[in-house]
Amino acid sequence: MPGHVIIGMQWGDEGKGKTVDYLTERADLVARYAGGNNAGHTVVVNGKKTVLHLIPCGILHPSTSCVIGNGTVIDPGVLLQEIDRLAEAGCEVKGRLHISEAAHVIMPYHRVIDAAQDRLRGKNRVGTTGRGIGPVYADKAARTGIRFGDLLDRETFEDKLRFALDHANLMLTKVYGEQPMDYAALRDEYLGHADRLRAHAADTVELIHAALAAGKRVIFEGAQGALLDLDHGTYPYVTSSTTMSGGVFGGAGVGPGQIQGVIGILKAYMTRVGEGPMPTELKDATGERLREIGQEYGATTGRPRRCGWLDLVPLRRVIKLCGVSHIVMTKLDVLTGFDPLPLCIGYELDGQKLDRFPSRISQLERVKPVYEDLPGWKDDLSRCRSWDDLPAAARSYVRRVEGLLGASISVVSIGPDRDQTLVRRDPFGG
Ligand code: GDP
Ligand code: IMO
Ligand code: MG
Repeated sequence: MPGHVIIGMQWGDEGKGKTVDYLTERADLVARYAGGNNAGHTVVVNGKKTVLHLIPCGILHPSTSCVIGNGTVIDPGVLLQEIDRLAEAGCEVKGRLHISEAAHVIMPYHRVIDAAQDRLRGKNRVGTTGRGIGPVYADKAARTGIRFGDLLDRETFEDKLRFALDHANLMLTKVYGEQPMDYAALRDEYLGHADRLRAHAADTVELIHAALAAGKRVIFEGAQGALLDLDHGTYPYVTSSTTMSGGVFGGAGVGPGQIQGVIGILKAYMTRVGEGPMPTELKDATGERLREIGQEYGATTGRPRRCGWLDLVPLRRVIKLCGVSHIVMTKLDVLTGFDPLPLCIGYELDGQKLDRFPSRISQLERVKPVYEDLPGWKDDLSRCRSWDDLPAAARSYVRRVEGLLGASISVVSIGPDRDQTLVRRDPFGG
């Protein structure tokens, strides 16, 4: 049975965590393939909330195996905290959590350089999560990175760290005016982490392929969103990894033949944390109301998320970029009480009509959204238990978006909990 990739279709925080947890009911293995603990994926089970930053959300199902793939970047201290917190909540990961030896390791200097670099960018700052993501992926590309497998081998680690830290200390002191870091302290801290994580090390490529060959269902849990993709997102206001579905090929080690479908997670409106253009942003009381009702505060940094109406222009592009086969629309319940509901169907650029998403950031900063108003509804959706329970206007909103995107909105989510999920068509189906 081939695998399914789950991706965010916007700027992250679409509800990937909730959806992965919901779909894991029918899966055997869940793998992360990109990003690190810049992600914050929230799962609510019977009212109890868990936020996962690195461990796949499938972990909350006791019989599911989870993989942290080679395309991810791992902050070992954060990962250990996450493992401990799960254990305290009665979720044991032993024997079920497998970490790729080829995944790169986030070092403390990556975090400091991340923050210092963004400060130096001044008005052009990205507003990163400060977790060291850009610098660790930069080291990976520069071939100076330290991989999880290196960390497990004392001699290799000491050697690699000596070289990497010499370089990092030059950057810290000469470029950023920061304090240098101490080799021995860093070495001991990380070797301690390595000892605790050693049992989880695995050749995750073989593990994933064995599951696929045995006919097991594998879910690849994307992080961030397609508009934060390093190549196709709103560069430079993006993250440093491939967040599109294609990231799974390099980031998990599978080929196109192993992927049956791509499930795109789409919030019923737009949100964005950090800087960068957002054509439909509402910088007014309506935006604040969306933020309060939707509880739009970052799961990782707690920052307020910028909110705005659903923008179909980038979404049409994302469907092409990611080959989305099914859409899960989340947080439809949050739109209750807003009337009318404007839907951005195109842009105007310097007085000209524009119906594609410009890749030039200076153009995207200038576009004006063109809206179509749809009627709103007043009913609370959170207690609906089937598609037919939804008020007619809510169904029309979903159908109109579906029609304009030309893609199937197969599942509608009307609350954070597992049972607040309305299935119209099987998202694992063809
Ligand atoms: P992720 O990063 O894509 O996993 O999303 P986050 O967890 O960062 O943010 C999504 C937030 O919305 C979380 O707090 C979820 O519990 C919540 N959520 C998910 N689906 C729904 C929904 O359909 N309705 C409401 N009201 N909240 C939802
Ligand atoms: P999940 O998986 C929302 C944003 C940051 C910043 C930019 C670059 O929960 O959807 P980085 O630290 O990655 O270098 O920051 O990307 N960002 C996210 N925004 N959800 C996320 O993850 C994000 N991960 C990174 O706010 O604008
Ligand atoms: Mg999130």
